[in-house]
Amino acid sequence: MSCNIAIVGATGLVGRTILKVIEEYKLPVDNIHLFASKNSQGLELEFFNEKIKVQELTENSFKDIDIVLFSAGSEISSFYAPIANACGATVIDNSSCFRMNSNVPLVVPEINIQEVDNAKIIANPNCSTITAVIALNALKKFGLLSVGYTSFQAVSGAGQKGLIDLENTLNGKKPSYFSANISQTCIPQIDDFVEGGYTKEEIKMQEETKKILHMPGLKISSTCVRVPVPNSHAVAVAVQLKKSFELEEVYRAFNNAKGLQVVDEPQKGLYPLSTIANGSDITFVGRIRRDTATENGVLFYCVADNLRKGAASNAVQIAQYLIS
Ligand SMILES: NC(=O)c1ccc[n+]([C@@H]2O[C@H](COP(=O)([O-])OP(=O)(O)OC[C@H]3O[C@@H](n4cnc5c(N)ncnc54)[C@H](OP(=O)(O)O)[C@@H]3O)[C@@H](O)[C@H]2O)c1
Repeated sequence: MSCNIAIVGATGLVGRTILKVIEEYKLPVDNIHLFASKNSQGLELEFFNEKIKVQELTENSFKDIDIVLFSAGSEISSFYAPIANACGATVIDNSSCFRMNSNVPLVVPEINIQEVDNAKIIANPNCSTITAVIALNALKKFGLLSVGYTSFQAVSGAGQKGLIDLENTLNGKKPSYFSANISQTCIPQIDDFVEGGYTKEEIKMQEETKKILHMPGLKISSTCVRVPVPNSHAVAVAVQLKKSFELEEVYRAFNNAKGLQVVDEPQKGLYPLSTIANGSDITFVGRIRRDTATENGVLFYCVADNLRKGAASNAVQIAQYLIS
């Protein structure tokens, strides 16, 4: 089967990556339609050596479209996704708009692709959640008691404006987006603060993990930090397991998990790095060791390309499943 695909937010970091990944994966596309704001109307993006014109997104954009991939923020998804549905298109949404809706599946293909069947809207999890949850899922068979996340998130996670702010501040200019000079410091704030001292990003990691793993009672805490790295997010994970384990069993579980690659030879300087993850659709896991602070605790460190596996590739893998 082939189909007509639309990308909303096609000129953004995620939208451009979606276009690239559709090409790489050779999705059987009849027609591709690119939408963004009025500012980008007429801009040309390349797809299979053809120049495709970006159009302004309107309520009439979705005629004869089978799948729409949204990556233009929550407000755009909230308004236009129901319109796309009404025109008969299935929506794959990269924003946080629908993630926690009980009738919308929140999907990481390596874990729960079967949940997309018959769904009209499918949500892509947050990029930091995707980075951690594939490894966590591999340990589910030991029983998960509690999880502690600390994320180290690249500036591209904030879109074009994040990358521009890093570049500008590296060149001595004042910050125009982040709350401090990101070229000189890590910033322990991603998104707004909510009650209890957590940020929205931290709450997203907690709630999305529980939904994807179908473990509403799982205890999770999280600290999300923006770091002066252009691309690829890292998450340090501390997990307390119900069952006692041998470290070899943890390695085996990670080695057998789809989409996960163990890189863990620290004596040789081999561990997950952003520079290894950039351009890849695999999540890299390393620094695997016992947590000496808890019984049956294990520590590990995951890295994934936030624009690819954390957003575009995850969405395109869902589209690939729908088409097949
Ligand atoms: N960056 C990541 O790592 C990441 C990971 C997971 C999920 N996401 C989510 O993906 C979405 C896009 O993120 P991004 O990083 O690609 O941001 P971005 O680089 O800032 O791109 C934003 C896109 O939205 C479009 N847009 C803005 N206002 C619009 C409007 N009124 N009508 C139509 N299009 C409009 C922009 O078009 P113009 O160029 O015309 O302004 C641009 O194409 C967000 O919801 C974000 O939360 C991002």
